[in-house]
Amino acid sequence: MVYLPSEDSYALNNILKQEIPKLIEKNSNLKFLEIGAGSGIHLLTAEKIGIKKENIFSSDIDEASVSHCNLLGYNCIKSDLFEKIKGKYDLIIFNPPYLPEHEKDKRIDTTGGKKGDEIILEFLKSAKNYLNKNGKIFLLTSSLTPKIDFKKAGYKSKQLLCEKLFYEQLCVWELIV
Ligand SMILES: C[S@@+](CC[C@H](N)C(=O)[O-])C[C@H]1O[C@@H](n2cnc3c(N)ncnc32)[C@H](O)[C@@H]1O
Repeated sequence: MVYLPSEDSYALNNILKQEIPKLIEKNSNLKFLEIGAGSGIHLLTAEKIGIKKENIFSSDIDEASVSHCNLLGYNCIKSDLFEKIKGKYDLIIFNPPYLPEHEKDKRIDTTGGKKGDEIILEFLKSAKNYLNKNGKIFLLTSSLTPKIDFKKAGYKSKQLLCEKLFYEQLCVWELIV
């Protein structure tokens, strides 16, 4: 099922609009990768802001999302996190599934594992191997997920945004190695 853009999507999308122009100024050939592209909202934004379409890469574990993004004209492959990803990127983004697992409503687009942080931690294990020199990661997290120790995972972190919603706080982090 393709994930319908929600508050978390918009938080990350706003950061892309704010940060990507600065990155393109420094590197007009910026290579972009989104893990878990869903509806393709960020792919459309990345192209609109000026990343060359041939430099926009994406993946999703969900077949319907992959087909949807392909229909929009984007390079999107079916992959469990970095399983099928090749190459290195200047910017990797991920709005992960982050909710703790409840047997009844377990969903691939929102459930991040038993505690909710398992997919994020798996992502962090591999992501650094796919970054170009000076590459960055933009990652969304929620207060509904256990706090992530970015230092322990091997990254320097900077909070780009934190916004309080009715029932959770969403943050977007910039991570570098
Ligand atoms: C919260 S949705 C975000 C979708 C879109 N990026 C957005 O911001 O609206 C999480 C997305 O990650 C995908 N996903 C879940 N587990 C994944 C995995 N192990 N590898 C790749 N994608 C995964 C889901 O299918 C879903 O499309």
